[in-house]
Amino acid sequence: MAIIQQIIFLAVLGTVGWLVFKRASLIRNTILLGRDEDRTDQPGLRFATMVRIAFGQKKMFDRPLIGVMHFVVYAGFLLINIEVLEIVLDGILGHHRLFAPFLGSFYTFLIGFFEFLAVGVLVTCSIFLIRRAVVKVERFQPSRHKEMNGWPELDGKIILLFEIVLMIAILTMNAADTVLQEIGSTHYTPTGDFAFSQFLKPLFTGWNETSLIVYERFAWWFHILGIFAFAVYVTYSKHLHIALAFPNTYFSRLTPKGEMNNMPDITKEVKIMLGLDTPDTTAAENVIPERFGAKDAPDLSWKNLMDAYSCTECGRCTSACPANLTGKKLSPRKIMMDTRDRLEDIGRNMQTNGGKFVEDGKNLMGDYISNEEILACTTCNACVQECPILINPLDIILQLRRYKIMDEAQAPGSWNAMFQNLDTNQAPWKFSPGDRFNWADHLKNEA
Ligand code: HEM
Ligand code: SF4
Ligand code: SF4
Repeated sequence: MAIIQQIIFLAVLGTVGWLVFKRASLIRNTILLGRDEDRTDQPGLRFATMVRIAFGQKKMFDRPLIGVMHFVVYAGFLLINIEVLEIVLDGILGHHRLFAPFLGSFYTFLIGFFEFLAVGVLVTCSIFLIRRAVVKVERFQPSRHKEMNGWPELDGKIILLFEIVLMIAILTMNAADTVLQEIGSTHYTPTGDFAFSQFLKPLFTGWNETSLIVYERFAWWFHILGIFAFAVYVTYSKHLHIALAFPNTYFSRLTPKGEMNNMPDITKEVKIMLGLDTPDTTAAENVIPERFGAKDAPDLSWKNLMDAYSCTECGRCTSACPANLTGKKLSPRKIMMDTRDRLEDIGRNMQTNGGKFVEDGKNLMGDYISNEEILACTTCNACVQECPILINPLDIILQLRRYKIMDEAQAPGSWNAMFQNLDTNQAPWKFSPGDRFNWADHLKNEA
């Protein structure tokens, strides 16, 4: 019997490993479709940023209550994984509580501590769920935010329910296990009562040994299969952030937020126009760029694409966006979600075409994101400031806008007048630079 369990376990482990590997490779390949951008400078500062923002959860505490609740889930996840390691080894080797004989009473303490975390995760995820389903926090509501309709809304709830059920399984499994130890069932290594599950033992009063073993095994398999399913599921979910938050903060932008990326070709043109540079005669430097800005996801940089996969869909950016708050169609969260959706479509396309993308006649700009949305952006950087994992929706908006205006020449009329003024008057207004201080003339007269 034990050997059959071991074989089934190994088969499941192998299948899950293969599925996760395949999916992770596809995500990596779609991210690498993005334009090259060097984010390897200042490794020390990058590492410190990752430690502060991802490991230390610094920006999560901008909203202290959510920060503390999320910290419980986050720390619980990281530490409970030590127990999962034991469960996986038990499954492979056909043992039960492999570490118990080596660690003695410390083992009982450790599992008790994990139970304490499990209860924390259970309570916190329940509150998160209530916040979404009962209290109906505004930034998650599909009625107010179109991008939360359908899968994103469901995804947010599924993952929380999933974690709650997994925690219940582990606590009741421990309780059934200790009851089995008490009745002297062979195979159940004596460990003594654990911190929380001891209070669940009354649930199993009157159960005979067989029923207890069946339940304990059921909960064991349910828990580990649940974790395996979770590992595959997160790669399709906003919960991919549990892995990508770390590299995403490491590779985040180190320059000040207000500093916009210049377009070197355009900067040069302007400098030549102002007599600050001379035209190049070498052919290589005179190559006209294939496209200004970004029309589709692969025109964005790989970091923009990693941002899209890392987004938790929390909506903090949207809740701070002045355009969104004043009823415009723009939502920075939607920009990130659309970019991810486009990448997912490209990924599926590549999968069905032997790893190569076959033109599908669609583009990020136009088919997923509309002109109206990107034109509403004030470039205020509030979304960038708000994001707890250092995602930059503005960078994507700017590149899409540059494409619309410079490549397709589709700026609104009023913007074109402003560009014209900048060109001729070095200011957005219609007045000549010489008239710029006319407004102060009356002060001179008064003096
Ligand atoms: C590694 C283990 C992690 C786990 C298990 C985890 C779990 C969760 C869960 C369950 C939620 C859902 C809350 C909800 O939407 O109702 C969530 C949201 C979130 N997580 Fe994580 N997370 C982890 C790591 C991180 C890291 C490293 C960061 C980076 C700072 C992060 C940032 C966020 C953000 C910004 C949200 C949205 C919070 C909100 O709704 O305001 N998470 N996480
Ligand atoms: S930069 Fe644009 S998208 Fe971001 S908050 Fe400001 S207006 Fe909204
Ligand atoms: S971009 Fe950042 S702030 Fe906005 S929804 Fe995604 S994770 Fe939240």
